[in-house]
Amino acid sequence: MDADGVCVFKCLVNRSTEYCRVGKQSVLITLGYKSALLQFKSQVEYNAFSNALKVCGSQKKEKSVFSQRTDEASAVQYFQFYGCLSQQQNMMQDFVRTATYHRAILQNHMDFKDKVVLDVGCGSGILSFFAVQAGARKVYAVEASSMARYAELLVRSNNLSDKITVLFGKIEEVSLPENVDVVISEPMGYMLFNERMLESYLHSKKWLKSNGMMFPTYSDIHMAPFSDEHLYMEHYSRANFWYQECFYGVNLFSLRNAAVDEYFQQPIVDTFDVKILMARTVKYTVNFLEADEEDLHRVEIPFIFQMMQSGLIHGLAFWFDVAFVGSQVTVWLSTAPTEPLTHWYQVRCLLQTPLFAKEGETLSGKVLFVANKRQSYDIQIMAMVDQTGLKSGNVLDLKNPFF
Ligand SMILES: C[S@@+](CC[C@H](N)C(=O)[O-])C[C@H]1O[C@@H](n2cnc3c(N)ncnc32)[C@H](O)[C@@H]1O
Repeated sequence: MDADGVCVFKCLVNRSTEYCRVGKQSVLITLGYKSALLQFKSQVEYNAFSNALKVCGSQKKEKSVFSQRTDEASAVQYFQFYGCLSQQQNMMQDFVRTATYHRAILQNHMDFKDKVVLDVGCGSGILSFFAVQAGARKVYAVEASSMARYAELLVRSNNLSDKITVLFGKIEEVSLPENVDVVISEPMGYMLFNERMLESYLHSKKWLKSNGMMFPTYSDIHMAPFSDEHLYMEHYSRANFWYQECFYGVNLFSLRNAAVDEYFQQPIVDTFDVKILMARTVKYTVNFLEADEEDLHRVEIPFIFQMMQSGLIHGLAFWFDVAFVGSQVTVWLSTAPTEPLTHWYQVRCLLQTPLFAKEGETLSGKVLFVANKRQSYDIQIMAMVDQTGLKSGNVLDLKNPFF
């Protein structure tokens, strides 16, 4: 049974249908006078079907939290991307990321020993395996992309079917047979917030026992003003393609301003020398034990930077750290420019016009992240040099970064 198959049955079940479970992975379904025994090839397929039945059975016409906040086209593209083994491999091969998760879980093995664990967005299932290595009694590995099948295959071929149950579906839509002691996940996107998966991670707390643990436990997003004339000019020159008055005989100039706007809307994902940073960072913390998913619909980060050098400020640089607070040790995963590079790199947002500031002056303002239905954020930056009153800002589209 594939995703289409589940959809067909969703429709059928909406009309008066009776069904009951037979054995471990079969369902007897009765439509009018006819009955059929559906035998599923694997537990993961049975779970997908069973979850779909539950959604239909509860007659929930309303959309799930995930569907309400996401355009369908975005979700389809997103889960297709994560359905590729090459994408999972890319994350698994990020040594800093995977080794830090491994260390955070195994060094806190007492928090996993004989515990029930939920892995939100398990992908290949790698974190579920780590939880079992740390002694977990049972892991529910939830995955909404077709990668769930491969995760199930890995679980079977590693002889861990008794410990890890893969559930195919969105965390907002699946149902678990019991509450859990620990939730593990890797929900961070570029600039921390991209993909809006942190909300799914927070949503999963509905399955967490009181006093349960979240791995990671909290995250700090850091930002600082930077000076980089070269980057700024490079962006302008890209748009200068549209300066041409005779491109195969066509005058492109009327689109030049639109091209500049488009390039400046792109956050730049790359790395840089910390020497370009002009002030100490300001940080904003998201505590996963305390935050609700609605808290991430609009995130406002005010800042006051004390300038440590004079010069032109071209924009703000961002990165994040996450902390795994275990009962034995707290482990940090950092994407700072001073640390070994990860697949998240760092992100820089340019100001539309650079601002001149002198050492000792202050740059104040705010960064506003407004969630959109494309599983990303619109970013607004407002900044002012307090002593001169000079202002600048920008509006950026995190869904469309420049690499
Ligand atoms: C960044 S990957 C991490 C994969 C794996 N946990 C790892 O660490 O290698 C995030 C995974 O979560 C899945 N995912 C994202 N949102 C989800 C949701 N709402 N419900 C279930 N899975 C989700 C994606 O399909 C993707 O495979």
